[in-house]
Amino acid sequence: MNNGVLIAQITDTHVGFEPEAEDEEFNFVRFREVLEHLLAQSTRPDMLVLSGDITDGGQRECYERVRRLLATCPFPVAIIPGNHDNREELLRAFPDCPTENGFVQYARQIGELRVLCLDSFDPERHGGAFCDVRAAWLERELNSHRDTPTLIFMHHPPVVAGIDWMDPRPEEPWFRRFHETVAGHRQIVAIEAGHLHRPLHSSVVGIPLSVTPAVAPAVSLDLSPMDAEHADGRAIVATEPPFYSLHLWRGGVLASHFQPVGPWQTLARFDKTLEPMMRGLFGERH
Ligand SMILES: [Fe+2]
Repeated sequence: MNNGVLIAQITDTHVGFEPEAEDEEFNFVRFREVLEHLLAQSTRPDMLVLSGDITDGGQRECYERVRRLLATCPFPVAIIPGNHDNREELLRAFPDCPTENGFVQYARQIGELRVLCLDSFDPERHGGAFCDVRAAWLERELNSHRDTPTLIFMHHPPVVAGIDWMDPRPEEPWFRRFHETVAGHRQIVAIEAGHLHRPLHSSVVGIPLSVTPAVAPAVSLDLSPMDAEHADGRAIVATEPPFYSLHLWRGGVLASHFQPVGPWQTLARFDKTLEPMMRGLFGERH
């Protein structure tokens, strides 16, 4: 992108939740509509990041379907795994995806912005992980580029969001390890995550954190405590619209936009009648 860097993010597509429906399954149709909306933007991103839970069950054929869908993208695509993924199958479908000590973790330089894609996946857990091996790589990357603006992508947000059944414990060891690794690195402009299936803004040791909502159905907003032994009938998943986000880095500022995709009705367009208003708005900038 001229005059800045534009990174698109799509997360939690969960392809294969209804495997028998193949390309007409609910999640895949939403993924296709989100991608079509992104591709119709007049401003093309410099890169697209898929931030995990690409598939629902790590199925080989689902990664193949995603690979075929992404073949229409005229920009590079970076992929990291989520807790519903399978590293081996992901790498089989996307063999150009770099790895570090077996983890799908790598750096990209996009214009003046450095993008670090982290692997927070532990096949044994729903929640995240960040072991010593991954932390050592991140520390090396951060120490070797201390003056380069850096955007971190990872599947699991390393925060407690307040949605009880999705939340990790605040004292998770991987939280502490991650926090200690990024603390003090002022070149990190933000951390971008997924996993929560909801929009969220927070911070991690003073670093801004955003969570892009899922393509798959949303986790319902309910901040009351849950008793796992007492089914209280609360909503936990709902068909809120699928989203993608656009992270614009320009002039030393990151602006993250979150776009729902659906059959919205356009209520105003920039036609002749709006030229005076636009002149007024632009006039204020001089
Ligand atoms: Fe997910």
